[in-house]
Amino acid sequence: MNQLLSDFVTQYLSSIEEHLSRAVPAPIQGGERLIEAMRYSLLNGGKRIRPLLVLAAAKACGSNLLSKKVYSAAVAVEYIHAYSLIHDDLPAMDDDDLRRGQPTCHIAFDEATAILAGDALQCAAFEVLSESADTLPLVAPLAKAAGARGMVVGQAIDLGAVDQALDLQQLSHMHKHKTGALIEVSVQMGAIVSGATPAQLAALQRYAAAIGLAFQIQDDILDVTADTHTLGKQQGADAANNKPTYVSLLGLEEAKSKACSLLVEAKSALTLLPDGDVLAAIADYIVERGN
Ligand code: IPE
Ligand code: IPE
Ligand code: MG
Ligand code: MG
Ligand code: MG
Repeated sequence: MNQLLSDFVTQYLSSIEEHLSRAVPAPIQGGERLIEAMRYSLLNGGKRIRPLLVLAAAKACGSNLLSKKVYSAAVAVEYIHAYSLIHDDLPAMDDDDLRRGQPTCHIAFDEATAILAGDALQCAAFEVLSESADTLPLVAPLAKAAGARGMVVGQAIDLGAVDQALDLQQLSHMHKHKTGALIEVSVQMGAIVSGATPAQLAALQRYAAAIGLAFQIQDDILDVTADTHTLGKQQGADAANNKPTYVSLLGLEEAKSKACSLLVEAKSALTLLPDGDVLAAIADYIVERGN
C-alpha cells in the first residue's frame, strides 16, 4: 500500500470501525447470541475495502468525508459484505472453517445462528440507509447489487460451477456478479451521496467494473500463492472444492497479467475526476496485495 493510501487508512479506518460497531442493533431479550454472532463476524478485522471505496469515491467527487451519509453508505455495504461472507463459508456453500484468522461464524456459534446473523446483517444494512432522506436513494442500488441481479446470483453461478469447466466469458460474468457488484456499488454510493455529475458517475463505473473483476482475480490468485496464515482463510480452498477460477482457467501468469491490464483500465478511467488519487492507490493495492 502506498503512503497516500496508508495515510488515508490511518485517518479514516477507526471512524469506519466505530460506525460499523455503533450501527449494530441493540439486542432484545433472546437476541443476545444472535447479536454476538453478528458482532463476531462484522468486527473481526477485514480490510474494509468497500467502506474505504465509498469514502475514496466521495473524496474523488469533492465530498466532505466527515458527513454522516458517507459513513451510512460505508456501513451498509460492509454489512452486506459481512453477511455474504458468513453465508459463503457455510457447509452448504464453500464449507470453510477459517475466516480472518478465526473460526467462521457457523463454527464459533452454530449453523442456524450463522444463517440468522447473515439475515439480520442484511436487514441492518437497509435499516441504516433508510434512516435519512440523504441515503434513501442508495437503497435501490444496494439492493440491486446485493440481490438476484448482483452478488447473490454470482454466488448461485459459483455454486453451480463446481466441477464444471467455464469459459472466460462465463467466468468473468460470475466474478462480476459475486464480487464486482458490491465493489461497484461501493464506488457508486460514494459518488451519489457526493452529488457526482453523470460524467463522473460514468467514469467511476468504468473504474469500479475494472477493479471489481481485478479484486476477485487477485483473490483467486492468492488462494493459490499465499499461505493460510497470511490469508486468514484456508489456502487452496478453490482447488479443494474444484471451483473454476481465473488461475484454473488461464494459469497463474495469465491471471496476473489480466489483473494488471484491469489496473491500467481502472486508472485510465480516473483521469476525468478532480481528486481520484486515493481511488488509484486502492486499485494498485487490490492488484498488488499479497504479492
Ligand atoms: C473476500 O473479500 C471475499 C471476496 C469477495 C473475494 P475481502 O478480501 O474483502 O475480505 P475481508 O473483508 O478483507 O476479510
Ligand atoms: C466470495 O468469493 C464472494 C462472496 C462472498 C460474495 P470466495 O468464496 O472466493 O471468497 P473467499 O475466498 O471465501 O473469501
Ligand atoms: Mg465462495
Ligand atoms: Mg469462499
Ligand atoms: Mg476466494
